[in-house]
Amino acid sequence: MVGLPARGKTHIARRVSRYLSWLGYRTRVFNVGNYRRQRVGSQKDHTFFDPRNPEGSSARREVAMAALADMLAWYANGGEVGLYDATNSSLERRRLVADRCRAEGLEVVFVESICEDEEVIASNIRQTKLHMPDYAGMDPEEAVEDFQARIGHYESVYETVGEDEGACVKLIDVGRKLVANRISGYLPSRLVYFLMNIHPIPRPIYLTRHGESMHNTEGRIGGDSGLSPAGSRFSQNLARFVEGEVGEGELRVWTSTLRRTLESARPLGRTPVEWRALDEIHAGDCDGMTYEQIRDDMPTAFAARADDKFDYRYPRGESYRDVIRRLEPVIVELERERAPVLIVAHQAVLRALYAYLMDKPPRDCPHLPMPLHTVLKLTPTTYGCSEERFELGPVTGGKDSPA
Ligand code: SIN
Repeated sequence: MVGLPARGKTHIARRVSRYLSWLGYRTRVFNVGNYRRQRVGSQKDHTFFDPRNPEGSSARREVAMAALADMLAWYANGGEVGLYDATNSSLERRRLVADRCRAEGLEVVFVESICEDEEVIASNIRQTKLHMPDYAGMDPEEAVEDFQARIGHYESVYETVGEDEGACVKLIDVGRKLVANRISGYLPSRLVYFLMNIHPIPRPIYLTRHGESMHNTEGRIGGDSGLSPAGSRFSQNLARFVEGEVGEGELRVWTSTLRRTLESARPLGRTPVEWRALDEIHAGDCDGMTYEQIRDDMPTAFAARADDKFDYRYPRGESYRDVIRRLEPVIVELERERAPVLIVAHQAVLRALYAYLMDKPPRDCPHLPMPLHTVLKLTPTTYGCSEERFELGPVTGGKDSPA
């Protein structure tokens, strides 16, 4: 990462890390500010960051090198994408970091966040920086003043990434403009594609399974049955819940193409976007069977799935890993969307989306609780998502399928 303080570097690094981890890359953020807080203490006033302060400069260099050494050790142990989250504001520092990485055979891509909009910077300072341990217990006005002085010190030595420094993506004014230089290859291109779509505007994302289906009442997986009477009551409850949450306000409704999600969304009175990518995990030859039938008729398949539910692929069907892959366009569209979104979908698919939003390891997906008739409200915060669960009922009498 490259950029002055309060330009959203950590936010971007964490988003990229969450996305690539979810896609299965071993990814980690190395935040130099955290190393500084741990090693030299958090409550340093702006003079510590003044490049004319020799003690401060040498301490800062030391913590930056400690973070870099840890990152390189992590790569040596199988890490795949490390995000070195620091200001890296001078050419000299970037050369040092990049040379050390390249000497280990690593590919370096600079991600520079540039923002001149004073309002955005001020809001970032108030929303994130004032809550850092650096300013714990300090008068907010004094803290803002100190942080601005800190930025000033960085500005005095800041040099934007030059075209000859290598692969680089510049994000200008929170996504208004993006400049890519010398980007090639699959992963760097994927990174640019993702960066083109993210924004920092918080809005809730609601996840819910469809109401209980006729197949649920019989414990059958897959299929395309309609709602049970209890499922229909849930769809009414869902409409009342949504009315209470957003009223007449903006809300995007996304469903799968299957009857049970469309019927669940109908009382909302809003036209949904139907995504095939949101259809339930495809159970292949097991579609329409109960778990007891699979256990009795296909014991090898049943045991293999119990052994590794993440990678197990139903005969002529899908695995959780396959589901994650096909959900990628949904994730990118979700990142891009600025209005609240309600996703009415299915157990396995929602587990995968929840794992992404809550930054859970993909392998945990098959075991995440995703009960029927419950809405999850996930609201992005600076560094993740907060979660609320609303049980709307009615309680289901059926067998529900464990997907
Ligand atoms: C910090 O110490 O908070 C940031 C370190 C840096 O300049 O990258």
